[in-house]
Amino acid sequence: MSQAEDHQGTRRDFLYYATAGAAAVTGGAAIWPLIDQMNPSADVAAQATKEVDVSSISAGTQLTVSWLGKPIFIRHRTDKEIKEGRAVKVADLPDQNAENPNVPAGSLATDQNRTVDADGKWLVMIGICTHLGCVPLGNNAGEFDGWFCPCHGSQYDTAGRIRKGPAPRNMDIPVVKFTDAKTIKLG
Ligand code: FES
Repeated sequence: MSQAEDHQGTRRDFLYYATAGAAAVTGGAAIWPLIDQMNPSADVAAQATKEVDVSSISAGTQLTVSWLGKPIFIRHRTDKEIKEGRAVKVADLPDQNAENPNVPAGSLATDQNRTVDADGKWLVMIGICTHLGCVPLGNNAGEFDGWFCPCHGSQYDTAGRIRKGPAPRNMDIPVVKFTDAKTIKLG
């Protein structure tokens, strides 16, 4: 098989999975165009950064921005959400890895290792379900007060950690940091 044919096969397989996922959508979630987001050029991936002013995001609300073709959830968590997230034992988590490139590789999925700031007010995640790529519903959705993916029922907690359902991993955290009190930088 030529390289081009091989690529086509991979693409077809992927489309099949994306379509299978779409068929199961029942609650208004969308399949994110994973083909685009999985193939950013190396140049784009290496260089693209985005700054977001988060000063207007009040506690208990979420802003979704697009970055490198992906939805990025920027959640200003309430004290209740922080408390709930910190009460969870890592041993009870299906995925015990922080899935956060901003902390050392292999760090545990504690609530503290998931948030941008030490106080835990800011959670920034790539808003794509780690099962088959739907965009989960937020604003305290699901059984764990976090996000719910209606495609196949994955439930994420207030730190975006998978708690129940078929998704294998916590929602991924992008490279992110505060550059001043009101600005976060992605990438
Ligand atoms: S895509 Fe299957 S549960 Fe989210």
